[in-house]
Amino acid sequence: MSISTVEQVPPPGRLPATMAAWVIRPDRQGEPAHAMQLEEIEVPEPGPFEVVVRVMAAGVNYNNVWASLGQPVSVFRMHPEVDHHIGGSDGSGIVWKVGEGVTKWRPGDAVVLHGNHASYEDVEVHGFDPMAAPSQKAWGYETSWGSFGQFCKVQAQQLLRKPAHLSWEEAGSYGVGLFTSYRMLIDRCGLQAGQKVLIWGAAGGLGVFATQLCRLTGAECVGVVSSAEKGELVMQLGAKGWIDRCEFPDLECRVGETPEEKQRRLVAAKAFAKRAKAILGEAPHIVFEHVGRATFPTSVFVCRPFGKIVICGATSGFDLDFDVRHLWMRQKEIVGSHFANAWQCGRANALIESGQIHPVLWRTLPFDEMGDAHQLMYEGRHQGKMAVLVGAQQPDDGRGISGNVGDPATTG
Ligand SMILES: NC(=O)c1ccc[n+]([C@@H]2O[C@H](COP(=O)([O-])OP(=O)(O)OC[C@H]3O[C@@H](n4cnc5c(N)ncnc54)[C@H](OP(=O)(O)O)[C@@H]3O)[C@@H](O)[C@H]2O)c1
Repeated sequence: MSISTVEQVPPPGRLPATMAAWVIRPDRQGEPAHAMQLEEIEVPEPGPFEVVVRVMAAGVNYNNVWASLGQPVSVFRMHPEVDHHIGGSDGSGIVWKVGEGVTKWRPGDAVVLHGNHASYEDVEVHGFDPMAAPSQKAWGYETSWGSFGQFCKVQAQQLLRKPAHLSWEEAGSYGVGLFTSYRMLIDRCGLQAGQKVLIWGAAGGLGVFATQLCRLTGAECVGVVSSAEKGELVMQLGAKGWIDRCEFPDLECRVGETPEEKQRRLVAAKAFAKRAKAILGEAPHIVFEHVGRATFPTSVFVCRPFGKIVICGATSGFDLDFDVRHLWMRQKEIVGSHFANAWQCGRANALIESGQIHPVLWRTLPFDEMGDAHQLMYEGRHQGKMAVLVGAQQPDDGRGISGNVGDPATTG
């Protein structure tokens, strides 16, 4: 297969006819190593208020594990207008061509991409919250043309300045995890100094940013992880302590559990809550949830009276089963949250630019290992974030680059 290489890419302002991209097709959904295949595919043209970006690096997120599996719903039901799925909901790159009406960005601008997509025609976008717009979609998941191709197509409002001090892969790695955690904790929960937070999967893609946001806000958090190595990582990121969930083997809520298993789970939840309280000094004001079925009953139980359980995902299953008495008797709240709007993404990006929050990059992989990176994530064999080099030639390229870089030869 002939794949466009860096040398064949025309200068900013012009697009090649085709590009290499990692593609999922309706007839091969399954584990990522099988579902994601490298194909040569046409390069999209930007429409009005759209921008085509040459991708330098892309972040790996769980949503394209779901897209590969075709679960809980096939992505082809979300974007029936195309029969391919090019995933990738965050990334870094260079503006290559702008569509009609775009005035703020020009070819050559170094950018970071955020993944919220919504129509300018929806009134919610103008004065309420783009996340409430009927047209709202997660770019690179509910849409195609994400960052897993050499070029991607975004709305102009999805562009943010690339922080100068970061390499391409660092800049491409944090969008989904940071922006989602920011909305969950800062906007949806109003996180304050002195509050206590319990973070599930604290060494994962969301957790590494939730942990740093707690430190930055002056809140204290305990991170739940599954190894001592991950525990060390969350301590470095500013957690007050960590809990190895493997020490609580009866804690997981499983489908079809017997009354005896349920009883053992409650005993485990009490011991777990005691451990969290011993570390934090008090029960948590906020429980940071994205695991779903396996942990949700414990999250509701461990949360303090009038506290909040904020949830944005359900890796272990979305049919939740919990004792609602623990919720109402103690007047706790369940708060749903989903990605972030452009304003929130911009504020969170400023925390990266000022060096107050750092990307946590566990591994950088070459472009031809995109499917393997997702397979690692599917098997839970990763920590923090993984990034894949797309246009960037080697790790660490791009450091020092910001603003308009003009010719691609200057991008390393
Ligand atoms: N709505 C949104 O906008 C949005 C945005 C981002 C992510 N999400 C969703 O949120 C979820 C997490 O995303 P992520 O990027 O943080 O994924 P991730 O990097 O895989 O991290 C999740 C962590 O959760 C922990 N975990 C997994 N299964 C568990 C279980 N049964 N019990 C307790 N802990 C468990 C694991 O940590 P340990 O093994 O160390 O405990 C894992 O590292 C995914 O389902 C994703 O689709 C939603």
